[in-house]
Amino acid sequence: MKLTIIGSGYVGLTTGTCFAEVGHDVLCVDNNEKKVETLLRGEIPIYEPGLAELVKKNVAAGRLNFTTSTPEGVDHGDVVFIAVPTPPNPDGSVDLKYIEKVAREIAPAIKEYKVVVDKSTVPVKTGEKVAETIHRYAPDAEFDVVSNPEFLREGSAVADLMEPDRIVFGSNSDRASALMKKIYEPFAAPLLVTDINSAELIKHAANSFLALKISYINAVSAICEASNADVELVAQGIGMDERIGRSFLNAGLGYGGSCFPKDIAAFIAISDQLGVPFDLLKEVERINKNQLDRFIQKIRETLWVLEEKKLAVWGLSFKPNTDDVRCSVAVELVEKLVAEGAEVVAYDPKAMGTFQDLPISEHENVTLAESPEAAAQGAEAIIVATEWPEFANADFMGIKDSLVAPLIFDGRNLLDPATMQGMGYNYHGIGRGREEEASET
Ligand code: UGA
Repeated sequence: MKLTIIGSGYVGLTTGTCFAEVGHDVLCVDNNEKKVETLLRGEIPIYEPGLAELVKKNVAAGRLNFTTSTPEGVDHGDVVFIAVPTPPNPDGSVDLKYIEKVAREIAPAIKEYKVVVDKSTVPVKTGEKVAETIHRYAPDAEFDVVSNPEFLREGSAVADLMEPDRIVFGSNSDRASALMKKIYEPFAAPLLVTDINSAELIKHAANSFLALKISYINAVSAICEASNADVELVAQGIGMDERIGRSFLNAGLGYGGSCFPKDIAAFIAISDQLGVPFDLLKEVERINKNQLDRFIQKIRETLWVLEEKKLAVWGLSFKPNTDDVRCSVAVELVEKLVAEGAEVVAYDPKAMGTFQDLPISEHENVTLAESPEAAAQGAEAIIVATEWPEFANADFMGIKDSLVAPLIFDGRNLLDPATMQGMGYNYHGIGRGREEEASET
């Protein structure tokens, strides 16, 4: 099928590329000329495992193309996906100006029936506004609007798109639904077709529920610390109940990234606007913020004063397998440590480049190291801020002597406390009050 994706950011680029990979003829539109030039060369501006290869392959096969022209894009696709940013306003609500602008630009370019699909994460009722806008600028245009939320995770976006656990779209038109079903046929995933408003809500409700699980286990981690229990065992025990499930019950420094913080704030704002305040989510946000403060307090309890102390921070990305530092709790940690006068030496396998675009990287007390071991040289403590698998395999025996004292604060419960203690480290995790391994019986 002929498909157009407007916006070649994270979602647009990965979605368009995976559509091309299953055989669709895809044209991606982006108003950034430099980005389009880069993509036409088969190179990608982000780090996402497996994506660069797929872009190259599909560009070479002629199934994936890029342009800066929206009219050309609208002309190309029977179905036009909108995947532009939906940034937050200062009050947490969503700024929909890019969606509105694209709707205005699409309208005059519609010459024959088109399905306009909203892929960006938007508040409920945005589909109605998009339809109204297109209609206002092109009263005779024949089109339907569909909401098609995406559920990809950074770091595993290609796998999430190629083998999704479900596909959801909301449509109020049989004609549009038939085309949408055809697009997704090659993916062989369970399909849920809803009305437009429900599809829009599914996205916000899904992300909020996942964030709720994270804050829930983080709140439990505080209780574990106060009662000498181990949150990892508690998560395992409750996760074995299939009604609960083990995933997204990893206690740590809390959630970050370009989706959860923004989407939870947006869902709170929408519910307030609709007159049904979602106070539970306000508590989810509060627990999330508190988790980092509790962690820094733990560091203070051992080191007392942080001023002039050299600290090795391992990890800067908001989670492993990505170079994305947007709303990264690891970056927030660096900011807070430096604000207390600490000297941070940081290392990240992929995100040091993106980190260097942030103002905090310019701070005189922030330096970057070439390896986790180099960051630890002469440091008072190692702080694990992102659970990159390679950190678990570091040469801890070798590193030990280069530290002022063998001290580790593991903000992501990446390491095994007993092993670290066995190597002579003073280990502090999250909610790991109990030192011994639990009996299997
Ligand atoms: C999230 C959702 O998982 C996707 O389904 C959704 O499509 C996407 O947002 C989106 O809205 O576009 P993503 O932000 O890429 O995906 O990352 P996650 O893997 O969900 O992690 C989010 C944050 O939660 C990270 O900071 C991670 O460290 C944290 N997290 C995750 C925990 O602290 N504990 C966990 O158990 C799981």
